[in-house]
Amino acid sequence: MILAEPSLNVAASAATADGTGARHGSRVELVALGKHYRDGNAVLDGVNLTVAAGEIVSVVGPSGCGKSTLLRLLAGLDLERQGQVLVAGKPVTGPDRSVGFMFQEPRLLPWLTAERNVAFGVAPRQRKEAKAIAARLLAQVHLEKEARLYPRQLSGGMQQRVAIARALAANPSVLLLDEPFSALDAFTRMHLQALVLELWERTGLTMILVTHEVDEALYLSDRVVVFSERPARVAEILHVHVERPRDRRDPRLLELRGHLLEQLRLAGRWNPRKPEYEI
Ligand SMILES: Nc1ncnc2c1ncn2[C@@H]1O[C@H](COP(=O)(O)OP(=O)(O)OP(=O)(O)O)[C@@H](O)[C@H]1O
Ligand SMILES: [Mg+2]
Repeated sequence: MILAEPSLNVAASAATADGTGARHGSRVELVALGKHYRDGNAVLDGVNLTVAAGEIVSVVGPSGCGKSTLLRLLAGLDLERQGQVLVAGKPVTGPDRSVGFMFQEPRLLPWLTAERNVAFGVAPRQRKEAKAIAARLLAQVHLEKEARLYPRQLSGGMQQRVAIARALAANPSVLLLDEPFSALDAFTRMHLQALVLELWERTGLTMILVTHEVDEALYLSDRVVVFSERPARVAEILHVHVERPRDRRDPRLLELRGHLLEQLRLAGRWNPRKPEYEI
């Protein structure tokens, strides 16, 4: 089946991170979004993008073009912007638990066990249930046996799984991921990509993923947004019309991969005299 719209192959019995069973991905809208740092550095220039509730969208583009800046604006971590950022129809006015964030590194608190790190992410109004929520989320990331261990006792991949669980503990409706697996080896990365899809099917979250991995973008996403050089504009939006579960060897993914590599000027032979590949 070829899907024209974001595919939502979600189990009917899906439950959210907090176990309520409600499905709650939010729509995200960027309208003429621009960003200039105070030193006059233009980073984003008129970015228009609507991400449907429950959609997975990847953002790829040259290093330094403004991808992390975009996620920071979306998360309300930076409010100096031109244009609008809307989550569930409301302007973003600051950090909010409805928007979760995962970084390249796990950023766990070293003095807390895995379970307590996850419980740390639970909203104050759910404080009483924090332990139960953390236990449930650790089971969902397949770390129930490691609940009492400290970050230093966990592998890099395990720590990143704790970080996913912590991000979900606040029961967000949007999850932003900034190169979340780039520090991991290729096998662990593939396992974590599959895990992210498992969690997405469970929760119906909207996910926006920044990645340098073309394969990762194509394996996970409904659409891949290609950014131009800085100041970043949307150069292209690629629909991944491949049903889930996906096979990484699917020829349709390989064809899209070739196209993306060309777009990013990473295809062909490296020319040392020019800072790009020749197609
Ligand atoms: N606080 C800041 N003040 C001034 N310039 C900044 C600031 N933060 C980032 N920049 C600049 O904005 C541009 C975009 O940075 P950003 O981190 O968003 O890029 P990126 O696309 O995430 O890059 P990468 O792929 O390498 O992670 C860069 O040129 C960077 O130097
Ligand atoms: Mg970045």
